[in-house]
Amino acid sequence: DVGNVADYLRDHIRTVPDWPQPGVMFRDITPLLHNPRTLRVLIDVFVHRYMEAKLDLVAGIDARGFILGAIVAYELNLGFVPIRKKGKLPYQTVTEEYELEYGSATVEIHADACKAGDRVLLIDDLIATGGTMMAGRRLLERLGAEVVEGAAIVDLPELGGSAQLLASGLPLFTVCRFD
Ligand code: PRP
Ligand code: ADE
Repeated sequence: DVGNVADYLRDHIRTVPDWPQPGVMFRDITPLLHNPRTLRVLIDVFVHRYMEAKLDLVAGIDARGFILGAIVAYELNLGFVPIRKKGKLPYQTVTEEYELEYGSATVEIHADACKAGDRVLLIDDLIATGGTMMAGRRLLERLGAEVVEGAAIVDLPELGGSAQLLASGLPLFTVCRFD
């Protein structure tokens, strides 16, 4: 029963109030990663969902999306593409700027990280405003890839990001939510 698995995993996410600033309830996935049983269950949820999806690549978003994305890619026998924060990738890059709650951020991908028509799974740990996932998707689409689905462990639906991503036509998969 996926519902019970989601509750089991959700119970291992720690909430840290007022971090990194007052008013934020930070959903900390490190206990989920620390426990070998929950880490395996978590990875298996993603592997089972995508094992028949005929993917070409898994892309993960800096930095927590790297942890989940790289393990899932390995288990699916696929390559992994890092989408990084500005100024970290050494070769030719494609860049997307996006708005945060205060100010803006920039993410980049290597220009040769995927080719036209590649079926790519885009992974991060959490969807809040959805800005990061949307920027990652735009990078992949600018390289001609097809983003088969956006996937994350946690959705924060009150921030509206997942609804906006779905409305824009991106299929989404999240394991659990915090209201
Ligand atoms: C967090 C999280 C997502 C993003 C979600 O990353 O890991 O990438 O925010 O927020 P959004 O939906 O409003 O865009 P953060 O920028 O804190 O970086 P980190 O992974 O390096 O901690
Ligand atoms: N990224 C954006 N909002 C977050 C939150 N509340 N917890 C963890 N990561 C986040």
